[in-house]
Order: sequence, then C-alpha cells, then structure tokens
Amino acid sequence: MRNLLPLMPYLRRHRLLIGIGVLVAALSAGFSTIPPYLLGQAVEELNAGGVTTSLLLRYSGLILAAAVMDSIFKFGMRRLVGGSSYAIEYELRNDLFGQFLRLDQGFYGSNHTGDLMARMTNDLSAVRQLLGPGVTSIVSSGLTFLFVGVLMLRMDLQLGLLALILLPLISATFVILGERLRDRFRLVQDQFGHISTRAQENFSGIRTIKAYAQEEAELNVFGEANREYQKLNLSYVLLSALVWPLMTLLLTLTVALVLIVGGQAVATGRLSLGDFVRFNAYLGLLTWPMIALGWTVNLLQQGSASMARIAEVLHRPPTIATGREVQPRGKVVGAVEFRNVGVRYGDTWVLRNVSLLIPTGSTTAVVGATGAGKTTLTNLIARVQDPTEGQVLVDGLDVREWPLETLRSGIGYVPQDTFLFSVPLHENVTFGRPDADDAAVDEALLVSQLVNDVPQFPSGLRTMIGERGVTLSGGQKQRAAIARAVLREAAITVLDDAMSSVDTHTAAEILRNLRKVMQGRTSILIAQRIATVKDADQIVVLHNGAIVERGTHAELVQLNGRYAGMYKRELLQAELEETEQ
Ligand SMILES: Nc1ncnc2c1ncn2[C@@H]1O[C@H](COP(=O)(O)OP(=O)(O)OP(=O)(O)O)[C@@H](O)[C@H]1O
Ligand SMILES: [Mg+2]
Repeated sequence: MRNLLPLMPYLRRHRLLIGIGVLVAALSAGFSTIPPYLLGQAVEELNAGGVTTSLLLRYSGLILAAAVMDSIFKFGMRRLVGGSSYAIEYELRNDLFGQFLRLDQGFYGSNHTGDLMARMTNDLSAVRQLLGPGVTSIVSSGLTFLFVGVLMLRMDLQLGLLALILLPLISATFVILGERLRDRFRLVQDQFGHISTRAQENFSGIRTIKAYAQEEAELNVFGEANREYQKLNLSYVLLSALVWPLMTLLLTLTVALVLIVGGQAVATGRLSLGDFVRFNAYLGLLTWPMIALGWTVNLLQQGSASMARIAEVLHRPPTIATGREVQPRGKVVGAVEFRNVGVRYGDTWVLRNVSLLIPTGSTTAVVGATGAGKTTLTNLIARVQDPTEGQVLVDGLDVREWPLETLRSGIGYVPQDTFLFSVPLHENVTFGRPDADDAAVDEALLVSQLVNDVPQFPSGLRTMIGERGVTLSGGQKQRAAIARAVLREAAITVLDDAMSSVDTHTAAEILRNLRKVMQGRTSILIAQRIATVKDADQIVVLHNGAIVERGTHAELVQLNGRYAGMYKRELLQAELEETEQ
C-alpha cells in the first residue's frame, strides 16, 4: 500500500468528485438491498392471501423502481469516480512526461525505450484501473456486503453466519490466486517492454539490418522474445482461467448448504418462507460483490506495483538540475573555461586534466582521433553531463552555479548525430526559436547552405520530414541542424563534427558564412578535417582524453607533431584524389 502514497496529491485534487462518488455508491448499495426485501415481502403476502394481479403489479413496480434508482446511482458513481480516474491518469501522464524531459542523458543511457514506454502506457493504465473500477468496486461491493450482511444476520443468525463465512472464501480464492497472477502479470509486462524495445530498435535501424542482410537473424531473435511473451501470457491465462470455475464451484457449494440449513429452518418453522426466499435473493445479490472484492485486491496489487514503477521515474532526482542556491543571472556572454576537468566512466578516464581557455568571440577548434573525448568535452559546457572532477566555467562562473535554462539558452548546439523531428522542415529549423520571422529563417538557410536544396523538396519549407515525409540526405540533415543552431543566435555555438557529411567545397562556404554571422560570438568547432579548422583562433588536439597540442594552425604545423601529421595525411589524400580524377 505504501506504493500508492505518491497518488495522494492527485487524489486530494479530485477529492470532491471522488467524495460525491463514494456517497452515491453508498446510496446505490442501499437501494440494491430493496428488491430482495420486497421479493420476500411479496412471497409472504402471496402465501397468506393468495395471488392477486394488483399485488403482483405493485411489488414488481416497486422492485423495478428500486432497481432504477440503484442503476441511476451506479451510473453516477461510475461517471464520477471513473471520470476522476481518467483526470488523474491525464495528470500523471503529463507529470511523467515532464519528468522524462527533465531527466538527463545518463538516465536514458541506462534505461530502455521500450521499458520507459511501458511505464507511460501499461503501468499508467493499471493505476487508472485501480483508481476507477478499483475504487468503485471497493466502495460499492464493500458497502453492499456490509448492508446485506447485517440484514442476513438479523434475519437468521445461524444461516447468516454460514453464508458470511462461506462467501468471503470466494474473495479469498481470488486474492490468493491474485498474488500469483500479479507475479505472472509483471513478467508479461517486462517481456512486453523487451519486445517493444526490440521492435523499436529494428524500425530505427532498418537500414543497417538490410545492409547487413540480418533480417533472418533479427527475426529469430524477435521470434524468440515473442515466443517467451506468448509463454508468459499463457501461464498467466492458465491461472486466470482457473479462477472462474473455482468461483462457480464455491458459490454453488454455498447455495447448496444454505438450501439444506435454510430448508430445515423453514420446516421447523424457525424461518418463514418469505425470509427464506429473501435470504436466497440476498445471496444472489452478494455473488458479484464477493467476486468483485477479490478482483479488486488484484487491481490494487497490480496498480500498486505499477505505481511503484512510475514513482521510480517520477521521484528520481535529475542528476543535472539547477542547484538550490543558484541566483538568477543575465544572459551568457560567451567565455568558456575548462579547469583541470576529468570525466570518468566506470574505471576509465575519458578526459583527464583538461584545462582550456576559450575567450568570448573566439573560435576554438578541437581535433583528435575518434574516441579521444571531443564530444564528451563539449557536452560539459551545456551540462549535458557534469565532469567527474574539475570545473567548467562560463563567463567565469561554474556551470553548476548557472540557472540551467539561462545557461542552455546561451548555447547553440549541433550534435554529432543530427536529429530531426517528424514535422515540417520549417519547424525543424525554428525549433530553438519558434517565433523567428521569415527573414531570419532565410538568413539561417543561407548561412547553412540549405537554401539551394529547399526548392527540390516537394513543398519547400513546408515539406514533412521523417516518417510521414521525405528523408533528407545526411548532408541536408546536418545543414538543417546548422540552420537551427544559427537561428538561435546563441552566445556560444558548438558544432560537433557538424559538417562530416557535407562536401569540402560546401563546408568551406558554410564556414565562411558562419564566420560572418558568428562575429563577436564564441564558436567551438569539432572536426575531422584540418581544412575545417585551420582558420580557428586556437586549435587543440585531444588524444586519449588529454590535450596534447594547442596553438594556431601555423604554430601546430611548425610543431611537427600529431596535428602536422594529420595535416600532411590530408594533403596527401587530396593530392591522390586529384590525380585519380
Ligand atoms: N556513456 C558512456 N559510457 C561509457 N563510455 C562512454 C560513454 N560515452 C562515451 N564514452 C567513451 O568515452 C570516450 C570518448 O567519447 P567521445 O564521444 O567524447 O569521443 P569523440 O572524441 O567525440 O569521438 P568521435 O570523433 O568518434 O565522435 C570513448 O572511448 C567512448 O567510448
Ligand atoms: Mg564525438
């Protein structure tokens, strides 16, 4: 039950509607006890005075009226409590999604998409089931049991006790089996998460799969996971299939015993025939609530397990957030400094003792072999991750002392793996500045050299990108991402290998344009090509997580070290390509 505590604030917000719902449920339970009572009454009178049409009509009319009232209240109860449960599900889903957006890179590195999706879907729905059908059934079945129980005991203590001891067995069976059912249900959910992740990865990686002709292998892996899902589902269904026959059996047993004991009571005159009929009608009335109560325990267990999974995410503090003591700050100006920065994954340091000064308005290039730590280094500026040791400062202030939003809104970023949303190209470009006017968008497209490609797209800037639209080429995607960053007009712009898929000529053109628009602003360029970086104010060479060389292009060529070697190789390659042509 402790799992459900996080629901309290939500319940509190809807307490009025839920409260009225509970009241209506009580009324419904009260009205549901009237028809059996009237039935008994009718039998008494029939027994005493013979059958008259008016008597039959009167009783059936009254029974019908009570049933109508009961139905109206039941409807009201479902409407009120069910409505609140959907409202709470809505709020919970929004909160969960908001939390997903707050959580950092590290969280996504250690959790599978399918599993997160399962929390957003199946788990939320289990919690809603608990709040809707679960709550209505507890209240309405619980109250019915209470009312009818009292009536039965008052009618005949012996018979009443018999029924009230036997009937809860029905609920108990449900509860005992429910525990097992819940365990199996959890396995089913987990496996469903695996399957979703697998399928989703296949959809995203379809090109790789086809290129490597791995369809067969993937099908096998998927088939196996799917088979496991089927197996788990089967074991769940098998157990749940046992529940109903068992229930019917227990119920019939109760009816039979009541017939024996009650029949004798009627024979000895302890119980009137009317009361006996009434008692049996009450028994019938209790059947469903007894089943429902057991079933509700299941809903409670499933819902609380699901709530625990949701709370796990919901209450996880993001490792990267604005500190509590942080003061509001003006905009970022653009100076960056790394002070003895180190980043460690497990036992390996991927950056160590990195110190680097990037003055406002300068262009700094970072080069180095793949895996040297370039992306990791630039991730530290916008706090995509925090360093394990050392400090990163922006405008002389530790990035952890900045309000996260202010800091990030001062940084334009083109990531190494470009991501475009499945929305029109225009929206993709204006993602960081939705209110940008057409002139600004045109300018950004010009700088990023995407402008010449736009007319090729079926509806120009309005062309849908991605799943339901066109697929951009690698270079087009990168240039769209550059346009997005340019439009942001941030004080610091980081281009992480953002032109790797753009041809040398266009890349040079983009660089020229960028230099113009970035004047006075800080740029950090990560690149594999020396041609891209050679005009930078300073170039640093990263090797195995450490800065091994730094200086201008001329200085580094003079140094004749790693950088000079890269440069020579590039020149040689260009020469080779030329002679080949
Ligand atoms: N989440 C992570 N967990 C463990 N190791 C990581 C993680 N992220 C990065 N690394 C490791 O850190 C090292 C540096 O990675 P980084 O992405 O910074 O390299 P890079 O210089 O940008 O390489 P590239 O030129 O290929 O983009 C690599 O060895 C990488 O495997
Ligand atoms: Mg990288």
